Amino acid sequence: MISPTFHPTSETALIKLAKTPRSVLCYLSAMDISAFAPGRVELLGNHTDYNEGVVLSAALDLGISVEGSVNQGGLIRLESEGMTSFESGGTELAATGGWSDYPLGVLHVLRHAGYSLPGLEARYHSTLPLGAGLSSSAAMEVATGVLLMKSAQIPLQPMELAKLCRRAENEFVGVNCGLLDQVSSIFGESGHAIYLDCRAESVETVPCPPGASLIIVNSGVKHALTGGEYNERRTMCFDAARRMEVPALRDATMDMLNAAGLPDVVRRRAAHVIGENDRVLQALGILRAGDATGFGKLMTQSHESSRQNFENSTPELDTLVEIATSVPGVFGARLTGGGFGGAIVAMADSSTAEESSRQITTRYKALTGHDGAALVCQPGAGAWAANKLGTGKKGMTE
Ligand code: GLA
Repeated sequence: MISPTFHPTSETALIKLAKTPRSVLCYLSAMDISAFAPGRVELLGNHTDYNEGVVLSAALDLGISVEGSVNQGGLIRLESEGMTSFESGGTELAATGGWSDYPLGVLHVLRHAGYSLPGLEARYHSTLPLGAGLSSSAAMEVATGVLLMKSAQIPLQPMELAKLCRRAENEFVGVNCGLLDQVSSIFGESGHAIYLDCRAESVETVPCPPGASLIIVNSGVKHALTGGEYNERRTMCFDAARRMEVPALRDATMDMLNAAGLPDVVRRRAAHVIGENDRVLQALGILRAGDATGFGKLMTQSHESSRQNFENSTPELDTLVEIATSVPGVFGARLTGGGFGGAIVAMADSSTAEESSRQITTRYKALTGHDGAALVCQPGAGAWAANKLGTGKKGMTE
């Protein structure tokens, strides 16, 4: 398990203060809240969330840490290692197209929800690989959300926060994602998968099979959801539902689809989503029975459907899945998240998972020339915020 590397403590804060020139003292002393929001890995249920379907995911131990606080003066200053800082004193927030749109979007939607939040100073640090499809954007939104809640004492329920963060991404950043990423970052539980019903907006956590680990391998090929493919797939799913006269693809079955006579490409997109919903429902029983082999089979079927029906895989992701599923100790593998690049996730026997991951990356390098960074992990816990100098227990609503 890899832990986030940025956990400011009162001691490090005091050392920083002692060494800091006077001019920046008041900036540093404002950084009184620490928060963390994990990235997520989608386990099964690809592109089902915006079709009002069901998904299984897990939070990671990697994610985005932030230290900061709100202020009454109206100053907004956002910093992230290796990125251009954002600074503004204005009251109207506008997207700039940069990384700061994610925190600004959360500030924006919370202001619109009626909370008085004149200013925010925050410094972010990420342990998530960018563009790997592990939801660094949702982690940044949720980290900002829990920081704002803690700093301004905003009493949101976890699902309300997830929906506000999604709204920030939909309306401010301009990506029409579903609820999966934000929910996973908030509701994560160590050793558990997260089952999300996107219509009921309900969440349940289910233990992952004992003795199994997750292997995540980044293909090294950049994933950019702001590209048009995601929104194009979404539109085609809505079109398929409309043609079948159902409110959402959640309500369609394979029999209905086979009888509907849709154009081939629309039929294949819908078949993927309908199949994914079925696989998630099957997987619930399989997980509860602790059956890693059965779960792995569904993962590999899911990838095959992505490849053939949804066409959101890439040659690199296909190669990684092919290699992973031929390595001893791996139960199954699939692309994770939006697709069109990013990472695969595999379920593997914990006792040989490190060796399996080494074999996957070595063979991937030999076949494609790409360095596939691998991570062997267990599902991690959800987002938290705490007073930096406080002693209370960590917790989102603490
Ligand atoms: C991205 C989106 C999610 C979800 C997945 C695909 O991660 O942000 O909302 O649609 O793709 O399942």
